[in-house]
Amino acid sequence: MPSTLKPKRPRRQRTGGKALNRLIENDLIRKVSYDEYRDKVQRVYGGPKGAVLSLCSLMSLHIPLGERIFRSRKFDLRGAKAILDVGSGAGQIAGHLLKYGDPDATVTCTDLSRQMLRRARNRLKSGRPRFVACDLSQLPFEDAAFDCITCGYVLEHLPRAEPGLAEMSRVLRPGGRMFLLTTEDNFSGAWTSRLWYCRTYNRAELRRLCEQLGLHWKQELWFTRLHRVIRAGGICVEIEKR
Ligand SMILES: C[S@@+](CC[C@H](N)C(=O)[O-])C[C@H]1O[C@@H](n2cnc3c(N)ncnc32)[C@H](O)[C@@H]1O
Repeated sequence: MPSTLKPKRPRRQRTGGKALNRLIENDLIRKVSYDEYRDKVQRVYGGPKGAVLSLCSLMSLHIPLGERIFRSRKFDLRGAKAILDVGSGAGQIAGHLLKYGDPDATVTCTDLSRQMLRRARNRLKSGRPRFVACDLSQLPFEDAAFDCITCGYVLEHLPRAEPGLAEMSRVLRPGGRMFLLTTEDNFSGAWTSRLWYCRTYNRAELRRLCEQLGLHWKQELWFTRLHRVIRAGGICVEIEKR
């Protein structure tokens, strides 16, 4: 059979690799109650690690490479008039929203940690965003209040993705789009998990769950070709609510 006609084998990680990842991965999120875990997350981001979060994002190239996705309109913000950024952290993604979104779009930044929201406010130096402290799994907004949601490296701080995805879906209008970025169950994801006490997601399982919830994976996004090859940077996807 010509090689072009050969069915593509799905990418499979060797069992040894998976075991190593499991060994590296932090399992706090599975061990304690969600309330205990959430307190821990608030302390981590409220403390010195949170203070250097934007520096980490610069050094890991998350900020500049993330900016390329919005600047190139691979994820197109044009036309979105009400944008919600979930788990804004130091405002890494919110900065791109202010720069590449419509100038008359409202931008709402949320985070579990009030300290992170203060840091985002100081870093963004803009009067445009409103800042709301809340948990991703209980968003204090009306149904279908937003045209667009961005959620970068936050979903992995929930023990299960479903409550977070369902809540974001509730506040997103039908036809609205979501930029979702989360940690993957591979070597780089395992180290992220260890550093930030988060879990990781399996790409195929997360995709299935999103589709079950009516969140269609419109396109997978990659920061660079290298990211695609070595599967670093996590799962990055544009989702459309049906
Ligand atoms: C790694 S930072 C992500 C910052 C930014 N979105 C980015 O893409 O770089 C994760 C942020 O999510 C927040 N967070 C963690 N769990 C959360 C939850 N359940 N609800 C809302 N925010 C949460 C943390 O406080 C932290 O600021």
